[in-house]
Amino acid sequence: MAKGYYISKNMATAAMVLGAIALLTIIALSIVYNREKSKNAAKLMNVTTSMLAPTPTSNELWDKYRLPDTLAPQHYNVTLWPHLVMDANGMYVFTGNSSVMFTCLKKTDLILIHSNKLNLTLFNGRHAKLMGLDGVTAPAIKTTWFQTETHYLVIKLNGNLKPGKSYWLYTEFRGELADDLEGFYRSEYMEDGRKKIIAITQMQATYARKAFPCFDEPAMKAVFHITLIHDPETIALSNGQEIKKENLNIDGITVTRTTFEPTKKMSTYLVAFVVSDFTYINTKDKKGVLVRIWARKKAIEEGQGNYALSITQPILEFFEKYYNTSYPLSKSDQIALPDFKSGAMENWGLVTYRETALLYDAHMSANGNKQRIVTVVSHELAHMWFGNLVTLKWWNDLWLNEGFASYVEYLGADHAEPTWNIVRFKDQIILYDLQRAFAVDSLTTSHPLSRKEEEVNTPSEISEMFNTISYSKGAAVLRMLSEFLTEHVFAKGLSNYLKHFAFGSSVYSDLWDHLQKAADQTSGVKLPRTVHDIMNRWILQMGLPVVTIDTRNGNVSQKHFLLDSQAVVERKSEFKSNILYASQAIHEPMKVSKGEWVLANLHASGYFRVNYDLENWERLLSQLESNHQIIPVVNRAQLLDDAFNVARASIINITLALRTTKYLLHEREYIPWQAALRNLNYFFQLFDRSEVYGAMQAYVKKQVKPLFKHFGTLTSNWTMVPSGHTDQFTQIIALSLACGTGVEGCRDLTKSWFRRWMQNPHTNTIHPNLRSTVYCIAIAEGGAEEWDFGWKMLQNATVAAEAVKLRSALACTQVPWLLNRYLEYTLYPEKIRKQDATSTIGYIASNVIGQPLAWDFVRANWDYIFKLKRFQKDNAETGFGSGTQALQQAIEKTTAKIKWLAENKEPVLRWFISESS
Ligand SMILES: *[C@@H]1O[C@H](CO)[C@@H](O)[C@H](O)[C@H]1NC(C)=O
Ligand SMILES: *[C@@H]1O[C@H](CO)[C@@H](O)[C@H](O)[C@H]1NC(C)=O
Ligand SMILES: *[C@@H]1O[C@H](CO)[C@@H](O)[C@H](O)[C@H]1NC(C)=O
Ligand SMILES: *[C@@H]1O[C@H](CO)[C@@H](O)[C@H](O)[C@H]1NC(C)=O
Ligand SMILES: *[C@@H]1O[C@H](CO)[C@@H](O)[C@H](O)[C@H]1NC(C)=O
Ligand SMILES: *[C@@H]1O[C@H](CO)[C@@H](O)[C@H](O)[C@H]1NC(C)=O
Ligand SMILES: *[C@@H]1O[C@H](CO)[C@@H](O)[C@H](O)[C@H]1NC(C)=O
Ligand SMILES: [Zn+2]
Repeated sequence: MAKGYYISKNMATAAMVLGAIALLTIIALSIVYNREKSKNAAKLMNVTTSMLAPTPTSNELWDKYRLPDTLAPQHYNVTLWPHLVMDANGMYVFTGNSSVMFTCLKKTDLILIHSNKLNLTLFNGRHAKLMGLDGVTAPAIKTTWFQTETHYLVIKLNGNLKPGKSYWLYTEFRGELADDLEGFYRSEYMEDGRKKIIAITQMQATYARKAFPCFDEPAMKAVFHITLIHDPETIALSNGQEIKKENLNIDGITVTRTTFEPTKKMSTYLVAFVVSDFTYINTKDKKGVLVRIWARKKAIEEGQGNYALSITQPILEFFEKYYNTSYPLSKSDQIALPDFKSGAMENWGLVTYRETALLYDAHMSANGNKQRIVTVVSHELAHMWFGNLVTLKWWNDLWLNEGFASYVEYLGADHAEPTWNIVRFKDQIILYDLQRAFAVDSLTTSHPLSRKEEEVNTPSEISEMFNTISYSKGAAVLRMLSEFLTEHVFAKGLSNYLKHFAFGSSVYSDLWDHLQKAADQTSGVKLPRTVHDIMNRWILQMGLPVVTIDTRNGNVSQKHFLLDSQAVVERKSEFKSNILYASQAIHEPMKVSKGEWVLANLHASGYFRVNYDLENWERLLSQLESNHQIIPVVNRAQLLDDAFNVARASIINITLALRTTKYLLHEREYIPWQAALRNLNYFFQLFDRSEVYGAMQAYVKKQVKPLFKHFGTLTSNWTMVPSGHTDQFTQIIALSLACGTGVEGCRDLTKSWFRRWMQNPHTNTIHPNLRSTVYCIAIAEGGAEEWDFGWKMLQNATVAAEAVKLRSALACTQVPWLLNRYLEYTLYPEKIRKQDATSTIGYIASNVIGQPLAWDFVRANWDYIFKLKRFQKDNAETGFGSGTQALQQAIEKTTAKIKWLAENKEPVLRWFISESS
């Protein structure tokens, strides 16, 4: 799955970046608040504790969450019929039947198969039929029942199944086609004023069992023969290519039956079906693989799928080469869905996306939208091999699957967009994975990447694995591994691993074995220790080290880096010699003579922060100010981020960290500016109500002025966008910071653009890259007239990317009643779609004026908001689904902040005052 929370990627306006964080804090506070309200206490405790692992109630096999090792599925024949009209009870349902052929591995008189929320037809009082194959007589079924907690259909037999023999188990069932974004579900959207309904799936991690009874564990791979029955006006898609389409009459209704080619041997969580009236564009690659992009008719007609189609082939070619393995399937479908849970889902052969992650509109989408599309597509296609062809045996190793895809997505995207300045485009991993992981991994509430298999059992424990640590820390340590092994050795080991485990499953150490072999076979690569030994230090313990280099005597030391230096750590992490493996630079003697400086962790390839003795910091600072370009771009960003965070941990003085921003007067590159923006935003957030705010504004205004001027010149007085890919992102930062801090001419400029649009609503001349920023500033500076115009345009928006920009910009207003009215709108799905309600509240909460209003609103409407499926999903992705984990993180961050603030407010104020004059 792609990271849902990456939605804010590249949206440089403060509102967007902060939205998620602010909401989380509000939620955390609301939960605490609600718990204390005696009336709701019990209920809320149930909500949060039910997310934790229920203890198994007995020793019976059906009370255990893991399937026994007695049976192995081989084939499924699944027929499903989603009914896209409401039935007599006001419900949408699907009906179906399924046969699973399995082989008995060990003698048993018990069949356990996952089935959740399905109503099964009874045959002679039993929920299933059992037949033996090849002349074997199956024992009679004694009794059947549902074990709802563990999601099993339990089938007890009168006699034993025989090892080595195969059987068919047949079921017929009926399930609700709910709009719950899980399993087989329905999604609704409006087209030409008409409501349309489509049926789609999201099986990962444990929802296939909601669509048909199955052995729903990733290692239980099988071949799926899928048939879909649907309205002749619609098309049906699944993992395999359509091979037969025929019309037939069932109970007086004419329907189409679409049969698909059998899948390869694969996991249940990768199964997918779609029934819709979508259309597509297609192409065939050199080897005859059919590539199709599917979406709403209108979106395809408008050419919104063209960009995705144009990059898919280069990305597939890249991965074929990188993995040295052909694309394993005969076709590749990718479909954009109007209502989808995460960013995207890597179903084998039928990848599902949110519209914003696949559809690109040349007139409406920003450069950032484009980058998101190419990286998400690359991420999902990377999974077609790593994850789908070879699957991690169990969810405890999810970090390897997701961390890997999150790393190589940059490589595939880079190949598809060669003009985007190779080095700097890939380097964005620093911002979006490395530093993101550092932020979470510096808390005492972090956890190790790797979990033991037996620690992850229940669906909620499984969904907890989808978090920042798995994705971003996973990506960062794999990048480190690839760099110290060299990319050549890494790719060689990887390709051998894929060949060895194709159509099967593995555990993370299997990859280490193959990388080790590849290293051993390559002359010139000499590891100080085994891959296992090196990597264990990064994956078995949580956290990261801060390495301190004392250039006066050459001493290098390290310790566990924690944002709250006084926090008590229950899970101690030891950092000893691991830096030796992570950075070539640190092999060198660290003692320097006068005038020289030391810079460690070149290109930030190592997973650690660096601190220096004061003299070296001073020398680095003066290097930055005299000629910053001597220091690589990535390291400029990392110096900033390290300094601010080491200061937040009270290891160095905050004024030292603030001084790393002084050279920004000369900085024109995106990555350092974005790193600075994040750290400054933290300050803006911290001080937004205090006297520090004014002085800080004045300072930032001074720092951003030259950047604003630079882009004015580069773009002929803001009449065009710069040609460089990341320059386009920097331009957004220049505009938003300049207008945000009141650089002369900026607000007038953006207001005039917005005015022009208001006067001529049918022609929006504002460049899509700048729209988020321009809308936000114009609405913040304006009143009801601007707001209402923005709202009207939101109703009219037909492109998802444009709608998101407007929806977040409406939260920028400074007028309390407008904010309150906007909050109210989130309670009405016809105004704000359910899936957008919580993010809208989040945008409002990140506005200083909106924050207290959002806080009151969330408390008053707690019941409604908590019931929103979207709310639970969104927060599951950020780790909140685990209930306690993200909550603890939010509380820990808040506590650390308050303490830090008390100690540092005075010097910070004085510094800003002295530097802004
Ligand atoms: C909370 O859960 C307990 C045990 O499952 C149940 O008895 C109780 O009624 C629940 N409380 C509420 C308010 O739902
Ligand atoms: C399952 O489908 C395959 C291929 O269509 C067919 O050969 C087989 O007989 C079917 N088995 C059952 C039990 O329906
Ligand atoms: C499964 O359902 C379909 C559609 O109702 C039907 O055509 C098919 O015969 C059923 N399969 C079996 C094995 O009964
Ligand atoms: C399944 O059965 C239950 C209990 O009879 C009923 O409430 C529910 O609506 C049924 N679901 C479907 C999809 O028919
Ligand atoms: C940090 O430096 C400032 C200015 O140099 C000084 O006033 C302040 O006391 C220092 N803070 C700490 C905690 O040492
Ligand atoms: C840039 O544009 C603004 C308004 O669009 C105008 O007032 C200003 O004179 C222009 N500056 C230059 C140098 O052309
Ligand atoms: C908004 O949508 C309505 C109805 O489709 C249309 O009449 C109107 O022209 C649209 N307005 C703009 C500014 O696009
Ligand atoms: Zn993924």
